[in-house]
Amino acid sequence: MAFDRRFLDELAARNDIVDVVGSYVSFKQQGNKFWACCPFHSEKTPSFLVTPDNQMYYCFGCKKGGGVINFIMEIENLSYPDAVRFLAKRANLEVPEDNRDDSSSRVRSRLLALNRDAARFYYERLHSSEGEAVAEYLRSRKITQKNATNFGLGAASGEWDSLLTAMTQKGYSRGELAASGLIINSKNGGAYDKFRNRLIFPIVDVRGDVLGFGGRIISKDDPGAKYMNTPETPVYSKRRVLYGLNLAKKSKREGILLVEGNIDVVMLHQAGFDNACASMGTALTQEQLHLLSRYTKELILCYDNDDAGKAATQKALSLLNNTDFKVRVLELPRRLVDGQYVKQDADDFIKFNGADAFENLLSGSESGMDFRMSQLAGRFDLADDRGRVEFASAAAELLAQVPNAVEREVYAVRAAETAKISPEAMKQEIARAFAQRRRKDRREQEKRDLRPAAAAQPKERSMRYDNMRSALAEEGLLRLLALDESLFGDEMPLGAEEFSSPVLARFFEELWQQRGSPEGIRLSALDGVFTSEEMGHLTGILQKPESTGHEARKKALADYLHIIREEAERRTSTEDPLDAAMKKIHKKRDMEDGKK
Ligand code: UTP
Ligand code: MN
Repeated sequence: MAFDRRFLDELAARNDIVDVVGSYVSFKQQGNKFWACCPFHSEKTPSFLVTPDNQMYYCFGCKKGGGVINFIMEIENLSYPDAVRFLAKRANLEVPEDNRDDSSSRVRSRLLALNRDAARFYYERLHSSEGEAVAEYLRSRKITQKNATNFGLGAASGEWDSLLTAMTQKGYSRGELAASGLIINSKNGGAYDKFRNRLIFPIVDVRGDVLGFGGRIISKDDPGAKYMNTPETPVYSKRRVLYGLNLAKKSKREGILLVEGNIDVVMLHQAGFDNACASMGTALTQEQLHLLSRYTKELILCYDNDDAGKAATQKALSLLNNTDFKVRVLELPRRLVDGQYVKQDADDFIKFNGADAFENLLSGSESGMDFRMSQLAGRFDLADDRGRVEFASAAAELLAQVPNAVEREVYAVRAAETAKISPEAMKQEIARAFAQRRRKDRREQEKRDLRPAAAAQPKERSMRYDNMRSALAEEGLLRLLALDESLFGDEMPLGAEEFSSPVLARFFEELWQQRGSPEGIRLSALDGVFTSEEMGHLTGILQKPESTGHEARKKALADYLHIIREEAERRTSTEDPLDAAMKKIHKKRDMEDGKK
């Protein structure tokens, strides 16, 4: 990660934080402050601040913060060196000595190359005699050749080492093969292919890189798990991918269809619904929503119509509750087989009813609130007075959370009809629930206000303060150094051991070192030095109010130093000398660990 300092300064100069962040959010400007709704958590009122003066961002809600490189790391899910490269590309800058600086990005690009070669290998297998069983399986699932190619589907045949042999011949090491998850090391020192006798689904990200694979058994008699997926690797994280989004993002259809299974995605695309994608056997995550938000404002949930699918729908809806997404739920009907209703997924539905029937369902799909309301109504006995009262109050709870007044009104009327009460009574009930929520929020806020010490504690446990009085003064010292370095003399006013908080000591030392450099203090240059959590904490500290004017600041500096020294003194004098010495050693060790 040894990028040249001068290059990083140039990079920062050519990537103004307001421009860069402005391409992800829309700002409201107030003087030299730029406010926006935070791109990292969902909110309706802006608590995300960008300050061009020090080229930093900070969210008062989720406490994320840092410089422009850190922002790109967070929002694009990139490592530090990759974020640097991303910004270099954006500013048309050449990255000096780009191929020998960083081992983690080298590992990444090797793994991506390996995955691509493996995908090609599986694909070729499907079209050879070894792939016949998988090809037959595809025919039985009515997946066309053309569509199989569209998704790059492949075949893993039955041998234990066909991929292992082929990839070794291509020059990949055992270490790389194991890191990709494609090859499993056995206990006796050997190794074998993870995927055997399976239909292979390459998982391709929106940039076109092959991140990993899913593999489905092709025979009912196979005792293995129905699906196997690539485990978490340096390039694959199931929370961060959506199967098929690489194709769905190009669709001309309105919105994106979310389904549960890989086969559903493949089948929907084949039937003309090329806006479908799936989260691979996991609940929808915040990271996936973030990814989706780049391509669409509208989501259609089309999960399986069994209990698990309904629970997944509810979970997704509560995640989506406070976002800008417009959400609809497409409920698939159950299918009658031998007098019994059975679940069917999108693939089944299209197979039995055709694409037109699916189109009809799609155009008639109800809003997320309709779905939640009908789910709620199903939980009460509406023939019974007591059940109706209970339903009305539960519906009011739900509706009190709807921020849009028109939407609230529409559903209030519908809920009143369902509960067989007057719309006015329903609205009163909602107003009551609304007021109750507000009271609860206020009480919680008051509790927080009454515990300023707790509120000042860093979010991360590893950064927690042992001595709040000293730590707050140490924070002040950092603020003053960042605001006006001329307040300080040539000598460092404190030794690192006088700080009560190891992380604050590290911030201070780092800033002090920058101060000595020809370029002076540049907060954004700390992005590569501290973790994202630490950067968030530091920017939080810098956002707190500080005295203004040179004289007032000089006075504040003297006060801070006095407090820190006093507390440091007290720590050593009240303690058993042996304890104190031990603590010092531990703190030093912590600080060194933190630096690694
Ligand atoms: P389903 O069991 O609903 O399978 O799992 P499906 O996609 O409908 O497949 P077919 O139609 O039976 O062939 C939904 C998704 O959950 C993940 C897979 O991504 C699958 O597509 N899954 C399922 C796993 O990761 N592991 C499993 O063992 C099962
Ligand atoms: Mn299925």
